[in-house]
Amino acid sequence: MTNTESILSEIDELKQIALSDLDKLHADDDQLENWRISYLGRNGKLSSLMKILATIPNDDKRLVGPKINDLKDQLNKTFVDHKNNINKIEDKSGYFDNSLPGLNLSSGNYHPTTLIIREICQAFGSMGFEILEGKEIETEKYNFDLLNIPSDHPARDQWDTIWLNASTEGEKHLLRTHTSPMQARIMENKNPPIRVVVPGKCYRYEATDATHEWEFHQIEGLAVDKDISFSELKGTLFEMARKIFGSDQKVRFRCDFFPFVEPGVDMSILWDGKWIEILGAGMVHPKVLSGVGYDPSEVSGFAFGIGPERVSMLKNKIKDIRNFHINDLRFLSQFVR
Ligand code: DAH
Repeated sequence: MTNTESILSEIDELKQIALSDLDKLHADDDQLENWRISYLGRNGKLSSLMKILATIPNDDKRLVGPKINDLKDQLNKTFVDHKNNINKIEDKSGYFDNSLPGLNLSSGNYHPTTLIIREICQAFGSMGFEILEGKEIETEKYNFDLLNIPSDHPARDQWDTIWLNASTEGEKHLLRTHTSPMQARIMENKNPPIRVVVPGKCYRYEATDATHEWEFHQIEGLAVDKDISFSELKGTLFEMARKIFGSDQKVRFRCDFFPFVEPGVDMSILWDGKWIEILGAGMVHPKVLSGVGYDPSEVSGFAFGIGPERVSMLKNKIKDIRNFHINDLRFLSQFVR
């Protein structure tokens, strides 16, 4: 074989080996740079070919020279492409281990208010209560009138209400100040027996502080049937307290006044050595029953209203009710479930 023939076959061989070596490299690290130095470097294999070129006849140089240059261009270009490709799929540390687990995507979780509402509703659900929701915009009739709160009643003054400009057929609208309007709406649409809890948002026009929000939640409860007595009210709410706060939870009922119940009570739980009020309740007022077309001599019932944020504050030692609304992830992410 002449010098020229051998250099031509060396070019072919070099091309094959160089490309297949490069193909085996999958990380942009020293190996890649070593490849470059060994083939394209100043003392690399292509340079050696150039040196041999000097030893062949001038006529042959014209044939062989461009072939070496072509190979050099091809190797250069393939090298750059290969390196770019690797950079695209590996991280910048230069190391790509595709056996590692993927990056953690942060996932959302339920809001603490949602969690406590679900917990309380589940406690009642296990006692046979169904769960319904109502509208946040109410009419004066349902928020006050049908609940035995006439316009001149002092109880209406207690609630500084957010009234809306919109009114239909003379009916004034407002953001409901409590979930109790759902009592009348449910009774109008259903016949006893009724056992229902209604979670939802309520609004009052009031200054906020650590224990008051102008936007908050309530869970209304209503049970109506023949012969429902005060002992059913006590038993049901006591059982709920045990489910939420623990089986040895102590509760206390005291007289209270709400226009839509008679008698009315509030229930406190013994928490950290103190009695803390968590709900209002009572036997549904005969006027409320007759207002929705029920006969108070035929059916009776009890109702209650719970502030779920307050319950969560006790259970989770939350000092400020405003935490529920300021969307601070440091607070919210403590409630992952
Ligand atoms: N609606 C009352 C409030 O917002 C809470 C309440 C008290 C609801 C007694 C009731 C009840 O159903 O029987 O303060």
